[in-house]
Amino acid sequence: MNKLKINTLFISIRWKLVSTYILLIAVSLLMINILIQDSLVNQLVTEKKEALISRGNIVSDQIGSSLASAYSKDNIDYIKSVVKRLSIKIDSRVLVLNHSSVVVVDSYDEYDGTDQSDLAEVISANRGISSAGLYKFDDGVQIIYTGTPIYYDGKRVGSLLISSSPDEVYNRINQISRRISRVSFVVVIISLIISIIFADILSKPLEKLTMTVRAVGKKNLNQQIDISSNDELGELSDSINQMVTQLYRVDEMRKQFVSNVSHELKTPITSLKIIAETLVASKPQDIAVYDDFMRDINGELDRLNEIIDTLLTLSKLEHDNVVMDYKLTAIGAVVSASVNMLKPIAEKKRVELVADLQDEVTIFCDSLKIRHCIGNIVNNAIKYTAPGGRVRVRLSVDKNDVLIAVEDTGIGIPKEALPNIFDRFYRVDSARSRQTGGTGLGLSIALKLAQQHGGKITVDSEEGVGTTFVIVIPKKMELEYDA
Ligand SMILES: Nc1ncnc2c1ncn2[C@@H]1O[C@H](COP(=O)(O)OP(=O)(O)OP(=O)(O)O)[C@@H](O)[C@H]1O
Ligand SMILES: [Mg+2]
Repeated sequence: MNKLKINTLFISIRWKLVSTYILLIAVSLLMINILIQDSLVNQLVTEKKEALISRGNIVSDQIGSSLASAYSKDNIDYIKSVVKRLSIKIDSRVLVLNHSSVVVVDSYDEYDGTDQSDLAEVISANRGISSAGLYKFDDGVQIIYTGTPIYYDGKRVGSLLISSSPDEVYNRINQISRRISRVSFVVVIISLIISIIFADILSKPLEKLTMTVRAVGKKNLNQQIDISSNDELGELSDSINQMVTQLYRVDEMRKQFVSNVSHELKTPITSLKIIAETLVASKPQDIAVYDDFMRDINGELDRLNEIIDTLLTLSKLEHDNVVMDYKLTAIGAVVSASVNMLKPIAEKKRVELVADLQDEVTIFCDSLKIRHCIGNIVNNAIKYTAPGGRVRVRLSVDKNDVLIAVEDTGIGIPKEALPNIFDRFYRVDSARSRQTGGTGLGLSIALKLAQQHGGKITVDSEEGVGTTFVIVIPKKMELEYDA
């Protein structure tokens, strides 16, 4: 993927975040707007109804006597003047009905003499109760009706009907709505800016992560992501950094391994080549010379065989492909056999090799594999101990485990190298190890073999003083282990 595509990817992540955020804010604001509008309509319409009823009550009190006394022209004129004043003041139609619900006065002079007994507010007023209702007509027009009973001397003499448009209420609501919309717009713009900054902060580390992973994918393993945040992204980058470091180490080991193996294989092959060339060139007649050469060839072939065997063993162990031959075994005998097998090498190097079998115990194990495991550790002890030094192999038993300690007075292992010595192909000092021979596989094989028995290997070392490896095998050996 080229840079353009990466940018598009991150732009899209950024914009996904921004658009989600803005959508959430916009939907929330819209809901709030609708809720506010709804409750405002209810509140303002109720207020308007109450105001109209209270006006109606006042006027009813004013015209009660005139409506009750007689229908003289003076009285009617008086009622008309009061009603018209009210009508103008509140910009509404005001009707005065007699006790039979017939219109006596209409502020708009239209409905005089008509019967309005069907209206719910009139019916309610006739029962002595003031009431109000909002009506919506098919043409979209809305009207508030209020009905108030008119009393005189304790007797109901008629009712007052007010019909008023709620437009003024809706106009106020629209004004408030417009104000809320303006504020909402500002809120959305501020949120947009915040979310862009936020998305940028979030997507930048992702961009760095992708770049690094991509570089690692192109085998550029010398990479570390520089993200210091304490959140999940920080954790992710830490994990990726660890993974890359591990990959880098494995890759370095692989290169080292290839170079070691090539060197190890090259040495006997070079010797074989020299022997062959010598034989071809000199054509010695003496059978004894042939015999010497054949011995050398045999020795070199043994060395080649040994290297290839080691590689095959590790390969099988790595793939959990080893058939284990578990039997009840006296472990002391296994330790003795391992030590005895390496005695000649120790003697040759003038390293004292002693076995100290404090306890004897019989456990269920694969004796050959345990011998191999002890052999690798003792072999190292001899290899990394200078002539005149001492290697002691001690067998002891505690409550749960059999402990085989291999203690040497050798060169020791630097503290920083200790965590790596069981890694495949790892060697503390490759230059020196080359002289001593080996591929750096001995300890990883030993550890795998101990693990096959449900055990482990611990190590304690001091440079220049010596090293102690302890092979720990559980007495109640569990046949299965997690690799
Ligand atoms: N007893 C020891 N004293 C000092 N260094 C040790 C000792 N045992 C192991 N090491 C260090 O640990 C490294 C890994 O050991 P390991 O047995 O895996 O490899 P090796 O001995 O180099 O090669 P191989 O065992 O494959 O022939 C060694 O190269 C050596 O540097
Ligand atoms: Mg070794």
